[in-house]
Amino acid sequence: MAMAPISILGISGSLRQGSYNTMALKAAQALAPDGITVTIFDRLREIPLYDDDVRAKDGFPEPVEALRTAIRAADALLLVSPEYNYSIPGVLKNAIDWASRAPDQPFAGKPAAIMGASGGLLGTARMQYHLRQCLVFLDVHLINRPEVMIGQAPQKFSADGKLTDEATAGFIKAQLEALAAWTARLKG
Ligand code: FNR
Repeated sequence: MAMAPISILGISGSLRQGSYNTMALKAAQALAPDGITVTIFDRLREIPLYDDDVRAKDGFPEPVEALRTAIRAADALLLVSPEYNYSIPGVLKNAIDWASRAPDQPFAGKPAAIMGASGGLLGTARMQYHLRQCLVFLDVHLINRPEVMIGQAPQKFSADGKLTDEATAGFIKAQLEALAAWTARLKG
């Protein structure tokens, strides 16, 4: 039986124009097999620094509301992020912190996967395990395998931002398929 279409919300943890992580997310969008769509949420730079006084007084800022709505609407999440100082970039953690607040925190029960690209050999491994730990608290259901850790990223993308490494393309595709199967399984 054919699987129902799966909509994945993709978020890049890097704001810079030439980001390898955004390139990897766009590669995932392009490589998504039939029946899987990847939509990119690209408004992280509009999200202010978390301040609980602001939330208590004025509620969620509009870009945070937009993120929460997009998370709720998606069947699954794909977080693609650099590693900063062995951990999660503040930009991404800040967005997660905002989006995660009650009521109805939108991460609960969401299937998700993590990817990351870095210049070094480990391809964001340390960031990924920190991010997993945060997402456990939010009751996100992460897939375990395959992990996508894109090391030596500058050698794997062309100057115009296209993924050129076949092996990496294979890992990305396999992860999308695993996330779709996991999502279908959780939906029952
Ligand atoms: C880095 N970088 C980095 N790389 C890594 O493998 N481990 C690390 O801990 C860090 N730490 C780190 C901290 C900060 C503040 C910056 C700006 C960078 C290098 C990082 O992998 C590289 O800049 C990537 O290209 C960033 O990802 P984007 O922006 O290309 O997606």
